Amino acid sequence: MEDKKKAPGIYEDVLNPALNERVKKTAEELRALAAQDREAFWAEMSKNISWYKEWNKIFDDSKAPYYKWFLDGKLNACYNCIDRHLSSWRRNKAAIIFEGELGDSRVLTYQDLYREVNKLANVLKGLGVKRGDVVAIYSQMIPEAVIAMLACTRIGALHSVVFGGFSATALQERINDSKSKVLITADGGYRRGKTVPMKENADKALADNGCPSIEKVIVVKRTGQDVPMEPGRDLWYSELMEEAELHCEPEVMDAEDPLFLLYSSGTTGKPKGILHTVGGYLVGVHTTFKYIFDYQEEDVYWCTADIGWITGHSYLVYGPLLNGATSVIFEGAPDFPAQDRYWRIVEKYGVNIFYTAPTVIRMLMRWGEQWPASRDLSSLRLLASVGEPINPEAWMWFYKHIGRERCPIMDTWWQSETGMILVTPLPGDTYLRPGAASWSFPGVEADVFNEKGEPVKPGEEGFLVVTKPWPAMLRTLYNDEERYLSTYWQQFKGAYLSGDGAKRDEDNLIWVTGRIDDVINVSGHRIGTAEIESSLIEHKAVAEAAVIGKKHELKGQAISAFVTLRDGFDGSDELIAELKQLVVSKIGALARPEDIYFTSELPKTRSGKIMRRLLRDIAEGKVLGDTTTLMDPAVINSIKKQYG
Ligand code: PRX
Repeated sequence: MEDKKKAPGIYEDVLNPALNERVKKTAEELRALAAQDREAFWAEMSKNISWYKEWNKIFDDSKAPYYKWFLDGKLNACYNCIDRHLSSWRRNKAAIIFEGELGDSRVLTYQDLYREVNKLANVLKGLGVKRGDVVAIYSQMIPEAVIAMLACTRIGALHSVVFGGFSATALQERINDSKSKVLITADGGYRRGKTVPMKENADKALADNGCPSIEKVIVVKRTGQDVPMEPGRDLWYSELMEEAELHCEPEVMDAEDPLFLLYSSGTTGKPKGILHTVGGYLVGVHTTFKYIFDYQEEDVYWCTADIGWITGHSYLVYGPLLNGATSVIFEGAPDFPAQDRYWRIVEKYGVNIFYTAPTVIRMLMRWGEQWPASRDLSSLRLLASVGEPINPEAWMWFYKHIGRERCPIMDTWWQSETGMILVTPLPGDTYLRPGAASWSFPGVEADVFNEKGEPVKPGEEGFLVVTKPWPAMLRTLYNDEERYLSTYWQQFKGAYLSGDGAKRDEDNLIWVTGRIDDVINVSGHRIGTAEIESSLIEHKAVAEAAVIGKKHELKGQAISAFVTLRDGFDGSDELIAELKQLVVSKIGALARPEDIYFTSELPKTRSGKIMRRLLRDIAEGKVLGDTTTLMDPAVINSIKKQYG
């Protein structure tokens, strides 16, 4: 984006306030190299990773869409994140700065991290965890969670991190699908002044042989609360670590060996086990972290994401550590003990690069600019956003009140499946356009297709796709090849279907508009409508349920459920409360419906498909769209009458 072009909306393009010759040159060089030869670009980037044995073929598409990258290359993720920094002064550099909710903090240098990770790797080995086994991690944000992830990768085991806000049932489902052998959890966690019962939830998931694959449970002491420990199964982390050996040889892995599993919501009730492999993921994440955040050796970087999500994996753990960065991890919430928690942390550690989500920015906006205004944020030099479309108002607020008109904002689009950021501006762009994710990252080919699979013209909307494979792409869905093929590769031949809608503006920049499948994005958390529906219909009063995401000022989308009741049951406030609680217990608080509407019927097409679009229009109070395919148009009128 070299020249000033016309602004598409109410906001003018913003002249990148931190533009300098260095970042400009970097952006130009990266784009030129990738444009000339995409594979040569990734080959060049792969040199930033330490290989035991160099790969001999960069890319293989002979079994498309099962793509392979860096064939025959041998490496280890943990070695790349830690060991290779130990031979330089970085050994004593802070790798992780932990800021606890109680105000406690802990700094782990690369040497410290080496010691802790090696010991835990030996502990896991001692418990019988082998290469290829799966270890589940269910924890709040504490350094031990990161140590656990790295310890797994050191011995070639796959980690499967389950977000600490998920319920016991959700944890159980994920453990059973992945057949995890060991579970690493904590006695509890802190959030908004309360303790979160992690071990209690884990016990519920494991009760009555609920997770037959789990042999041992390792429990980190965080809150010190009294928790029952089952003899022979439950072991204290601290006791195991006391006796553990200090060195553990990293396992030599093939570039295409699995690195981790991460469960994410899809359009059916069952969460998808997204599988990432070692070589491509490390190259993709190393490269994007380095160039999108313009990471410089002395920077302090802070990503507010939770390790339970992909952002936590790629840009809190792997990306920063691969680059030898100093990265802040925080426990708790942005508004506890006060609404300036973030800005105290920025001030305290002199954070330079700050990566967060639009939902947080909108919340911060609501709390008012007096909170950031009272803190010294002068260390900040680059801001970034991820998780959902950032509305231009929130972009401008972030730019003015947090970046103080000095920091560029990188609006990064990507997904659990993509492993790495795919669409984003670069710090070397002359102008930034508030609200637009903008451009494919060099070496990535994202596009917007119409129904026929043709690129849309400027000004048009369509499906956000990726037309060429990229290194950090998922390799499959665990135990579900069929779903891998049908979800991502069926609609357009040879192109990856993201499930998002997007438009190209008049200048061809990409604006991501949000999910266009049955997935809801609530506060940047991805939840499948089908998962919530199947929880609701477990209630004896419920005959049928349809769940939709309606626009929400803070959360981006909020969950609305339309429910039909079985004969003999009546809708009431008590039933609404019961149903909401049922969803929380089945999935977690993040899936709690905002509203539940009782209706005598659900609007369906003649072929019996629930017309969610109509329900969304009703919930948002919009004029109804086309209802001609509706089986019984009277249904819609009756729902509208009730809630219109
Ligand atoms: O809808 C898109 C939205 O988040 C979805 C991916 O969710 P998840 O796999 O949980 O990963 C979230 C963090 C990468 C996408 O399909 N999304 C993510 N980033 C953006 C976004 N929507 C618009 N703009 C973004 N920058």
